[in-house]
Amino acid sequence: MLTRMTEQFGVTADGVWSAPGRINLIGEHTDYNDGLALPIALPRRTVAAVRRRPDGLLRMASTGVPGEPVTVLLDEVRPGTPGGWAAYVAGVFWALDRAGYAVSGADVVVSSDVPLGAGMSSSAALECAVGAAISDLEGLDLLADDTGRAHLAQLCRRAENDIAGAPTGGMDQSAAMLCRPGHALLLDCRDGATRLVPFDLAAHGLELLVIDTKARHALVDGQYAARRADCTAAARALEVTSLREVSETDLAGALERLADPVARRRVRHVVTEIARVPRFVAAFETGDMAEAGRLMVASHASLRDDFEVSCPELELAVEGALREGALGARMTGGGFGGCAIALVPSDRAAAIADTVTAAFARADFVAPQAFRALASGSARRDT
Ligand code: GLA
Repeated sequence: MLTRMTEQFGVTADGVWSAPGRINLIGEHTDYNDGLALPIALPRRTVAAVRRRPDGLLRMASTGVPGEPVTVLLDEVRPGTPGGWAAYVAGVFWALDRAGYAVSGADVVVSSDVPLGAGMSSSAALECAVGAAISDLEGLDLLADDTGRAHLAQLCRRAENDIAGAPTGGMDQSAAMLCRPGHALLLDCRDGATRLVPFDLAAHGLELLVIDTKARHALVDGQYAARRADCTAAARALEVTSLREVSETDLAGALERLADPVARRRVRHVVTEIARVPRFVAAFETGDMAEAGRLMVASHASLRDDFEVSCPELELAVEGALREGALGARMTGGGFGGCAIALVPSDRAAAIADTVTAAFARADFVAPQAFRALASGSARRDT
C-alpha cells in the first residue's frame, strides 16, 4: 500500500489503516428499529494508505477501481459529490468536519478484500478505515477506547447516510469499530450499549460457513429504503418512537391495530427478530447449539416471508446447507443477494459447500463461494 501511494500520487503515506467487513449472526433489519444485532468482524479488511494534506483537497484512488483518482475540495463535499465509491471516503471527512473536528485534506489510496455488494459491509469497512486514519492523523484520539470508537462509528454512518445516500442503520460501522477477535458483538441500537459474546465454535466441533451467493445487492437502491420506511410508518401508526417499543407480548395487540397486511408482516419480523437475539446469545453461552441453529432458521423464515428481503440464490444456499446437515442457516445482511451463513459441523463443512455449489450449478446461477468465518478484530493502524 505504501508503494501504491507513491505510484499513484508521488508522495509517501503517513501510515496505513484498516477495518474489517462483517457478517451478522442474528438480529437483521433491527438496527434502524432501535433493536439488537450480533455481528462478528471478518478477517477480510479494507486497507487505506493516507497522507495528510494541509490544503483542504482530497485525492482518492482505489486499487479496485481503474481510472483516474477522484479529486474534490472538502468544502465541495455534499450529497452526490463526489459520487460512487469516493462518497464513502469523502463523506467521513465531511462528517468529522460537521461534528466540529478540524480536518484537513488528504491523499488516500484504498484496497480491499471485502467484496463489494456481497453483504459483508464493504462500505462500512471503507468508512471506518478512513475514519481511523483521520482520527490518528488529526490527533483526535478516537480509537483509544470504545467511547471514541462508538462516536467515530456514528460519524461513519452519517457519511453513508448523508453523503453516499444509503439510509442504513449503524450495525456495520459499530461492528467495524468495536468487534474483538474471538467474539461476537451484542449491540443494543437503542442506547448504543455493547457486550462481547465469546464466539468459540471449535469447542463444539462446529464452524460458521459464509456462503457468498454472488448475487449482488446495493443498499443505495430503493428496496432497503422502502423496508425502512415501512418500519417508520408502522411505528407512527402504533404511536411508538420505534418498533423496539413493541414487545413480543404486545405483538398480537399491535398487529390488530394495523390494517395493512404488509405493515403487519414487517412489524412481526422486527419484533420477533429482536426477541430472537437474546435467546440466541443464551443458547450460545449455554452451549445449546441446536437451539442456536433453530433460531437462525426462524430468523431466515421471518426475513423471507415477513420482511421479504430474500432472493432465489439465498433460498438455495440456505436450503442446501440445511439439507446437508447444517444446524441452522440464514441470510445475513440487508438481503436481496449477498451472503448466507450456516452453522455446520466442521466435518460436514466441505460437503455442505459442495452441495450448495452443485445446486447453484443446476439452477444456472453464478458459482457461489464458501469460506469459514473467524471472528476477528476492528479498525486499527497497521503501519
Ligand atoms: C445493511 C445495513 C445495516 C443493517 C443490515 C440489515 O447491512 O447497512 O445497517 O440494517 O443491512 O440488518
